Amino acid sequence: MENIVEVLVFAMVAFVSFLLWRVLYSCWVLPIRAYRKLVVNGFSGPPPSFPLGNIVDMKKTKKKTESCLSSSSPLTVSNDIHSSVFPYFAQWQKDHGKVFMYWLGTEPFVYIADPEFLKKISAGVMGKSWGKPNVFKNDRKPMFGDGLVMVEGDDWVRHRHVITPAFSPSNLKAMSSMMVDTTRSMLDRWTDLINNGKPEIEIEREIVSTAGEIIAKTSFGMNYANGRMVFKKLRAMQETLFKSNRYVGVPFGKYMCLGQNLEAEKLGKEIDALLLSIIIDRKRSMAENGGCQEQQNLLGVLLAENHVDGSKGKKLSTRELVDECKTFFFGGHETTALAITWSLLLLAMHPMWQHELREEIKQVIGDGEIDATMVARLKKMGWVMNEVLRLYPTAPNVQRQVRGDIRVDQDSIIPDGTNIWIDVVAMHHDREFWGEDVNEFKPERFKDDLHGGCQNKMGYLPFGFGGRMCVGRNLSAMEYKIVLSMILTRFSFSLSPNYTHLPSVMLSLRPMQGLPLIMKPL
Ligand code: HEM
Ligand SMILES: *[C@@H]1O[C@H](CO)[C@@H](O)[C@H](O)[C@H]1NC(C)=O
Ligand SMILES: *[C@@H]1O[C@H](CO)[C@@H](O)[C@H](O)[C@H]1NC(C)=O
Repeated sequence: MENIVEVLVFAMVAFVSFLLWRVLYSCWVLPIRAYRKLVVNGFSGPPPSFPLGNIVDMKKTKKKTESCLSSSSPLTVSNDIHSSVFPYFAQWQKDHGKVFMYWLGTEPFVYIADPEFLKKISAGVMGKSWGKPNVFKNDRKPMFGDGLVMVEGDDWVRHRHVITPAFSPSNLKAMSSMMVDTTRSMLDRWTDLINNGKPEIEIEREIVSTAGEIIAKTSFGMNYANGRMVFKKLRAMQETLFKSNRYVGVPFGKYMCLGQNLEAEKLGKEIDALLLSIIIDRKRSMAENGGCQEQQNLLGVLLAENHVDGSKGKKLSTRELVDECKTFFFGGHETTALAITWSLLLLAMHPMWQHELREEIKQVIGDGEIDATMVARLKKMGWVMNEVLRLYPTAPNVQRQVRGDIRVDQDSIIPDGTNIWIDVVAMHHDREFWGEDVNEFKPERFKDDLHGGCQNKMGYLPFGFGGRMCVGRNLSAMEYKIVLSMILTRFSFSLSPNYTHLPSVMLSLRPMQGLPLIMKPL
């Protein structure tokens, strides 16, 4: 009898020590090993502590900057935003240059704000060989799941292959009249507000919700009630995940904000269920129609492709389709909406460019209705879009994880598993590559140059780079031009004295206190 107890106790002790060892190994031994490897290869940076890495520093610097900013005068609008958007990186750059290592918890990151360095390390890496940081994959699972933004390797090749044709010019064309209708109802609402004596309109909220409606319709072609429900839940999830301070990368960090993480998971499951029922409905109605139906939305196109015989092995499962729909939503609506929002801010401050664009619209579109073929001919509007995404890149950073060592030069590698954090805001505001007028709004820099005159071709990355560059960029350019043309045709606008210039990051780069504009019908 005693023997059995002893054996049991022994087994328990062994089991617990095994668990402890596992935890210690992954939270302590592995990170230290990674640290040494990076140091050997010449990387240095702010000294990390255990187990939070540099998170404490980051939060402290951020708080200090925020209290400084909110006490400064509200109406000075400066485009020199790097040190307020990423104050800790601006600080570290002073001591460690444009490439250094820092730690989110026990996860090593190589920070890159040097386009030359990025060019060197990315030249030999194909799209399918890049990873996406496991820490973010886990953290953002309820948002992106295994959608295109997060998948890697052969799975990424398969997803990208199936999804790319959904964004073909003919498919985009079919979406333009829906965009026009959705935008028109927003503008009619504005006219009502103005007629009721309320010319100050909170533009950011309006545009984000209209873009949400547009992406819901372009992604799933759902009716408004359905779309609104998914939209509301997706927004709630984003706010749960990004509003507060969390501990991404810290061992067991998930349990420090257990309530929020559980809430996000719950919302994620509800959204999945809603999307799943939509997809199953669609599949059924497609089967009844013998495989054909209107394909004026991304899901319709994906389902139709899935339906084609002989493409076995290239298909997406229903589960994967759900994740892609979520990915379109999160990747697609806010980035585009905020590009339009920041454009309206800059155009409000540069009435001359409002005028230039109205003239161009008159020439290209006249009194008719804008459509997909006209969009390509709005050249100046294209420069404005590029310049706005330079000064206010709505996707303010690009993240990757190294799968397999990457050689930097003769005696230096970036070791397998290292995360990479590319600071797009810093690169877009780098005097060394853009010149003295770097912080000025000058759309004409894109007149004859796709890179806006940047000295380095990797210095302008609003949509990422290489094989993993944004698939939605043509869709977003079309949406941008349609919405902006319609606004410019019906209204002129100026900045409200109530505006506070606080660009900050909540997944995307947004004006933290919204964008109130004074609208005047034309
Ligand atoms: C102004 C608007 C947009 C901006 C600034 C933007 C920016 C980006 C960036 C920076 C990436 C990462 C690229 C990389 O890792 O190199 C990306 C990827 C992606 N974007 Fe966009 N995006 C926009 C609009 C859209 C839209 C409208 C959609 C879809 C409806 C979309 C869907 C995606 C997807 C699926 C990926 C992952 C691509 C891959 O990894 O293969 N985006 N986007
Ligand atoms: C600024 O905001 C206040 C309070 O919301 C409002 O009463 C005022 O009309 C706004 N100013 C302008 C110019 O609209
Ligand atoms: C976007 O359009 C351009 C020009 O029409 C084309 O060359 C490019 O391949 C398209 N990109 C995507 C991602 O569809």
